[in-house]
Amino acid sequence: MLRQWWLRGVGACSTFTRAHSGCSTSSSMKPKRAIPSDGLQLSDFIREGTKKQRQKAIIPSIEDTKEYLSPEDLNGNGKTVCYVTYGCQMNVSDMEIVRSIMSQYGFVESDQKEKADIVLLMTCSIRDGAEKKVWNQLKLIRSNSVNKRQIVGVLGLFSVLMNAKISYLTGCMAERVRHDLLEKRNLVNIVAGPDSYRDLPRLVAVASGGSNAINVQLSLDETYAEVQPIRVDAESRTAFISIMRGCDNMCTYCVVPFTRGRERSRPIDSIVEEVRRLRDQGYKQITLLGQNVNSYRDMTSMDFPMNPSTTEDRVPGFKTVYKPKSGGLTFTSLLEKVADAAPDVRFRFTSPHPKDFPMQLIELIASRTNLCKQLHLPAQSGDDETLDRMGRGYSRDLYLRLVDDIRIILPNVSLTSDFIAGFCGETEEAHQNTLSLIREVGYSFCFVFPYSMRGKTRAHHRLTDDVPENVKARRHLDLTTVFREEAMKLNQKLIGTEQTVLLEGKSKRDVAFSHGRTDGGVKAVFDNSKSQLNPGQYAKVLITEANSQTLKAEFIRETDL
Ligand code: SAH
Ligand code: SF4
Ligand code: F3S
Repeated sequence: MLRQWWLRGVGACSTFTRAHSGCSTSSSMKPKRAIPSDGLQLSDFIREGTKKQRQKAIIPSIEDTKEYLSPEDLNGNGKTVCYVTYGCQMNVSDMEIVRSIMSQYGFVESDQKEKADIVLLMTCSIRDGAEKKVWNQLKLIRSNSVNKRQIVGVLGLFSVLMNAKISYLTGCMAERVRHDLLEKRNLVNIVAGPDSYRDLPRLVAVASGGSNAINVQLSLDETYAEVQPIRVDAESRTAFISIMRGCDNMCTYCVVPFTRGRERSRPIDSIVEEVRRLRDQGYKQITLLGQNVNSYRDMTSMDFPMNPSTTEDRVPGFKTVYKPKSGGLTFTSLLEKVADAAPDVRFRFTSPHPKDFPMQLIELIASRTNLCKQLHLPAQSGDDETLDRMGRGYSRDLYLRLVDDIRIILPNVSLTSDFIAGFCGETEEAHQNTLSLIREVGYSFCFVFPYSMRGKTRAHHRLTDDVPENVKARRHLDLTTVFREEAMKLNQKLIGTEQTVLLEGKSKRDVAFSHGRTDGGVKAVFDNSKSQLNPGQYAKVLITEANSQTLKAEFIRETDL
């Protein structure tokens, strides 16, 4: 469920159905403020650094071949590209941007991975398992390919780590690994980080000339604001809009701040414009996306509040590793604008941080029917000492107080969360505290991950990954079992109630049945053979059965939101 956030192995080479629209190519040459290619240090998050330090930070990670390429060299001239996406919805959304850029340059999408001229693999690096999957995919692609000149590119976060791994090593060791990765095994020709997608046509041109091409520079301002994504899942009438990128929080286990860089937000107007366009095209659900979606802050707008208050932007008591931010337009302003710009479109957002749920935001959600009463509130742990080691900036008690405050204003809210099983130093007692938090809150869904130590993180430098894998696996199972028990109770309480469901598609098992989601984000299935509603239509349904993941329902009538 909650397809919006963690999608795994999102499938290969999907064929796009919508025509592309313009992305400005000239801005691809715009100078960007760069972050060192081997990632950010803690100091990058707490102060700006001296001018000299900033200059030192601009290290180009590519051999600059611009002078030798003419604009014609960048043209795809109908070369075929197969897009393969792994990881979360952020990655799916990034691939939509890549599709747009490539098609603007004359490349054509293909679903033939074995024959395509170019295969672009969007990857994930958040856990070790995701990384291993990518290596296996790369080997498979090379061994199955019938196109001897096929160019393979690795995009996204994994690419940043891969390059970092190479640059960590010095001397002949580095040379050996580089040779191994890029040449001997001949697995990859292009490595492009999350802020260098505009550079892809050039990287392809370099790789077509027989060289390996790498650009993993992180940027302080790239948001791809004006690139209109080419969406692949138009049928369900649900879309995702990336509103911000990066993360400044530095949770000690997390590699995202190092691979996606610092927080930056798209200008509000470009988002509202995209919302209007999607509404005009018949989309009925939009999910706003960002690594820290509710830390959104548009600093480019002229529409600044005169006396910006910083404390109201955050939940009192929640701490950050960075100085409080001020000014600009916050997530609450953005959500109000998009909700009012498309009143018949449902809005969700993911993934937020609990600290950025000020009460005005909750009150706004309460005041608009089209803002779904479903909030993702990633807790990670229910144990104070573990939360402290994770650097989350809140205690169990503060988190629970936030849940109570939210439920006073939104009594029927559906809460979801993320948990990590077996973080460094997690005792059995700490694990029990997490189980009790899950019971106390009662989530309708949780994403549970066994802890996986990632290079570059603070946990990697300072803590020991001391929970044995079999213990992690057992705790992972405990957490899943308990959240499902609670979800089952919540879903069963819905039996006998009427819910508004937005139709997303036909059931795979029985085409007479269609499925959609309630306002709270729970999947509901009902017999649509008489009503014949289409994806994008709203139905009032009566809930008749429930398990921990799905509701069964009877159709009552078609409805507006
Ligand atoms: N910004 C969001 C989360 C983004 S990462 C937040 O603050 O919650 C998504 C999830 O991946 C995290 O919530 C965490 O549960 C999980 N995760 C991140 N790093 C991990 C690691 N090293 N091992 C296991 N799970 C991890
Ligand atoms: Fe998504 Fe990135 Fe996280 Fe992977 S590391 S799940 S791609 S945000
Ligand atoms: Fe990761 Fe924490 Fe940011 S989980 S994405 S560092 S909020």
